[in-house]
Amino acid sequence: MQKTILVTGGAGYIGSHCAKLLSKKRFRVVVYDSLVRGYRDAVKYGEFFQGDIGDRASLDALFTSYPIDAVMHFAAFIAVGESVEKPDLYLTNNYEKTLVLLDAMAAHGVGKFIFSSTSALYGDPQYVPIDENHPLNPVNPYSRSKAQVEQTLREREASQGLQSVVFRYFNAAGADSEGELGERHDPETHLAPLVIRAALGAGKPLSIFGTDYDTPDGTCVRDYIHVNDLCSAHILGLEHLFAGRPSDVFNLGNGNGFSVKEIVATVEKITGKKVPCKYEARRAGDVSRLIANAEKAKRVLGWKTDYPDIRDIIGSALAFQKGRS
Ligand SMILES: NC(=O)c1ccc[n+]([C@@H]2O[C@H](COP(=O)([O-])OP(=O)(O)OC[C@H]3O[C@@H](n4cnc5c(N)ncnc54)[C@H](O)[C@@H]3O)[C@@H](O)[C@H]2O)c1
Repeated sequence: MQKTILVTGGAGYIGSHCAKLLSKKRFRVVVYDSLVRGYRDAVKYGEFFQGDIGDRASLDALFTSYPIDAVMHFAAFIAVGESVEKPDLYLTNNYEKTLVLLDAMAAHGVGKFIFSSTSALYGDPQYVPIDENHPLNPVNPYSRSKAQVEQTLREREASQGLQSVVFRYFNAAGADSEGELGERHDPETHLAPLVIRAALGAGKPLSIFGTDYDTPDGTCVRDYIHVNDLCSAHILGLEHLFAGRPSDVFNLGNGNGFSVKEIVATVEKITGKKVPCKYEARRAGDVSRLIANAEKAKRVLGWKTDYPDIRDIIGSALAFQKGRS
């Protein structure tokens, strides 16, 4: 029988791409989003129900209206810098409101949950590539809010039997290959769209924070994973839960690191345009290298990446940005 999946935050970047893949895989999709940071026109797949995850009455109406089999929870605030300035906002929106969602699920007998966590949980890594056994060291309110949800999921499994799959994403990037969806954060804080906009003359010159890190060219190194590869992992995570397999935690990344300067060079090569750059001091909280060991997701879920090449990731993001300008 067709399963119904609730996608919170489905008007945002990753959630909208997942809603599309779920629909293609013939799941019934219900998107739940307050539009606080999302876009109604990004909900191109599934039914839309506008509401806040902290609004219990709205959630009760939702769970009464739809026979939800599992929840994919993307809704959150995502900017580390903002979380440092407004820690309570992140505690409330990302943690406390998730508790309201989990309570509503429990009240309506929904026991399967997929959660968007982050590699930021690992803090400044003791080793790379980082596997799931690496100690957690959430150093800002954003990553702490994710760690708190992870802890709650473990507790609710013990107390209520909630089954969950936690995905710790490295840097999500890229866009839908059909050009329908893409990354639209406002303000944008993620590197790929910022570099692309700078190249197209549609944004400010790119600020590069720190050129003296312990990396080959001195700029920070990150692991970029195509948004569609994140989505395919979510489908496998769902199948894992529907098959009755145990709750688990998985890193999602490519296992390759690219420096800020390498991303700039990639964008320059693809666009044929020079990226105007400003070199600035290191930003507090930025770590030198974050690279995933995602072998567990491959081994346990059978996941594989379809877009391992950084040029394809950047190329898809560029096509989306060009389509908007
Ligand atoms: N983008 C990345 O690189 C990245 C990396 C690691 C983890 N994540 C996690 O993935 C998830 C999705 O990230 P994204 O980049 O798609 O973010 P996004 O900002 O594009 O989307 C988040 C969506 O959640 C909605 N939302 C926020 N608070 C809400 C609330 N209280 N009630 C209802 N809707 C609410 C927003 O309106 C928005 O549509 C987040 O949980 C984020 O922490 C993202």
